[in-house]
Amino acid sequence: MKDRYYSEDKMHELLADSERLLQVVSRFSIPLGVGDKTIEQVCRENHIDTATFLVIVNFTHSGGDYSYPHDTKIDLQTLKKYLQNTHIYLLKFLLPHIRRHLIDALGSSLNNDITFLIIKFFDEYYKELENHMNVEDKEIFMRLDELQKGKKIKKLSSEISRIHTAPIEQKLSELKNIIIKYYTSESDNNMIYNILQHLFICEYDLYIHDRIENLLLIPEIKKLEQQNERNSASSNAEDENTDNNGELTEREKEIITGVVKGLTNKEIADKLFISVNTVTTHRRNIARKLNIHSPAGLTIYAIMNNFVDIKEIKL
Ligand SMILES: [Fe+2]
Ligand SMILES: [Fe+2]
Repeated sequence: MKDRYYSEDKMHELLADSERLLQVVSRFSIPLGVGDKTIEQVCRENHIDTATFLVIVNFTHSGGDYSYPHDTKIDLQTLKKYLQNTHIYLLKFLLPHIRRHLIDALGSSLNNDITFLIIKFFDEYYKELENHMNVEDKEIFMRLDELQKGKKIKKLSSEISRIHTAPIEQKLSELKNIIIKYYTSESDNNMIYNILQHLFICEYDLYIHDRIENLLLIPEIKKLEQQNERNSASSNAEDENTDNNGELTEREKEIITGVVKGLTNKEIADKLFISVNTVTTHRRNIARKLNIHSPAGLTIYAIMNNFVDIKEIKL
């Protein structure tokens, strides 16, 4: 057993290492039959970012206590795919599987009222988890693409922190403890021990999932948000730097085109991905440079200088 996995290690060693690592690989939909290929080769063949795959593997392998090298480039799409597949696995496969076995085991050994209460407890837990994961899918993962395109959206990192205020695995360990402490029937021991094992697997899976979201996803999204903020600050600074020896900048020509086509400042701002304030500043500078203050005057200027075609303008 290795302490840590690297890209040149063999994929078959990783797969045979532990049930936990087997799970990680399965969530990337990597087919078996890996032969003697290295982790890097298998990842490349399956279009998976190796660095991100390895961080998730080592995170899981260390029990959630792995601090990855600072300069690792995490691919957010790979991370997203892994986390989404974990949601699907838990909600559509593992938990329904546990529920079915729970009904079988309890139904044959306990009276109906207690069985009903335990299943009700389980179902409430399931609903809570499903809500949590649905919010993540809709609010976080679906909007991650917009953030990656540099669009200005509400801060995702604070949204994730908000939905991660309560640990989601708590109720599951309560269920485990109820069974351990109070399940007294002597029949069907194998079945109930098997359910407990599945509850342990599920609990651990959720624990690692939560740690990956808190310690990997949130910091990476924060980095991206900060980078977007820096980019937009520098492009605003560029936009406002309009002196250019009294000549019009490319940006100012775009603004004039917008004005003569009859767009409002807000519409121009949206079209050019800048703020309304920046548009106002540009319009002030244009008026100063050209000594033209009316939209009608600008229209004549724009046509004469071929910024726009006369056919594009409603006269
Ligand atoms: Fe999640
Ligand atoms: Fe979560």
